[in-house]
Amino acid sequence: MQDMSHFLHVCFILFSFLATISNAQSNQFKGSKKYEGSSNLLDLEYHMGPILTSPINLYIIWYGHWNPNHQSTIKDFLYSLSSSSSPSPSVSDWWRTVRLYTDQTGANITNSISLAGEFIDSGYSQGKYLSRLSIQSVIKNSLSVKYRSLPLNYKNGLYLVLTSSDVQVQDFCRAVCGFHYFTFPSIVGVTLPYAWVGHSGTQCPGVCAYPFAWPKYSGTPGAHKGIMGAPNGDLGTDGMISVIAHELAEVSTNPLVNAWYAGDDPSAPDEIADMCLGTYGSGAGGGYVGQVYKDRMGNGYNLNGVKGRRFLVQWVWDPVRKSCFGPNAIH
Ligand SMILES: *[C@@H]1O[C@H](CO)[C@@H](O)[C@H](O)[C@H]1NC(C)=O
Repeated sequence: MQDMSHFLHVCFILFSFLATISNAQSNQFKGSKKYEGSSNLLDLEYHMGPILTSPINLYIIWYGHWNPNHQSTIKDFLYSLSSSSSPSPSVSDWWRTVRLYTDQTGANITNSISLAGEFIDSGYSQGKYLSRLSIQSVIKNSLSVKYRSLPLNYKNGLYLVLTSSDVQVQDFCRAVCGFHYFTFPSIVGVTLPYAWVGHSGTQCPGVCAYPFAWPKYSGTPGAHKGIMGAPNGDLGTDGMISVIAHELAEVSTNPLVNAWYAGDDPSAPDEIADMCLGTYGSGAGGGYVGQVYKDRMGNGYNLNGVKGRRFLVQWVWDPVRKSCFGPNAIH
C-alpha cells in the first residue's frame, strides 16, 4: 500500500504470539514476511495502469532543518541506485528486483534514477505539522517560488519530500513512516508521482528506524537479537534509507495506484515492498531480520553503495521467484 506500515509490522513482531489481535489489524499484516517463499497466498496483480519505465528524474524537497551529513547519506543512497561501480551485493543489484516489473507493453521499470534537483524548504513553508494533503502544498510551493524553484517535470519527474525530525506529519509514527501518492491538478496543477518520508530520530525511532531502535514499551532492547547499529551513524537517517527504498520501489511499480498491487482494496493495497516488511536477509521471520552483514563496528548492513557506503534496506517482492528477495540472499 502507499502507507509504510512499519508500526504495524513491529506490532506484528511483538505481538504475533497473541491470538487477540483484531481482524482489522490482522488484515494489515497480510503482506508481512510470513509469506516469504510461498507463492499461492499472494494475489499480486497488474491492474493495467502505467509504471515508471522512463529514466526517472528525482527531485528532493528537504523540508525543515537538515544536518548536511544526513543529507549526504541519503543522497549517496540515491546515487547508488543507478551506480554500477559498487561491490556486490549493491544497491543497484537490489533495484534489479524492482526492474522485473513490466507494464502492458512489456516495458520494465527503468534502471536510471538521477538526482535532478533539490529544493530547500528550511522556512517550513507549510508549518511544522503537515497533513497528508499538505505534502502536496509543499510540492506546489517548491515548484512555484521565485528563487531556485524545482522544474515541473510531468514527463519523468518524481518528487521526494523529506521532513526533518522536528516536523510532525499526519499518521507519522502511528500508522506510517512514509507514503507515496500522486498530486492532484487542483493543488499542484498536474498529476505527479511523489513520496514522503519522515526522519523519525526524535519522534519514533523504535517504530520507523527499526531494527536500529526498539519500541520503548517493549522492554529491554538487549534482550532482542534483532537490534543493531546504524551503518551510517544516525539511526533516524539509516532508518529513513530503507523507507525511502520501500517507497521508491512502490511508487515505481504503482505510481497512480492502479498498476502492481495485491488485495481487493485499491485504497489499502499491498504493494511490492509492503509484502516484505522487516525482511533484510535470508531466513527472516518472527522478529529476526534475516542474515545480514556486520561492519567492523558491529553495525548491520546488507547492501553496498557508492563511496564505500553501506546500507540496510528491506527486501521487495520478486515476481519471478514469487518470494521476497534481495541480492544478499544466501543460495
Ligand atoms: C523485465 O521483466 C521481465 C519479466 O519479469 C524479466 O524477465 C526481464 O529480465 C526484465 N528485464 C530487465 C532488464 O530487468
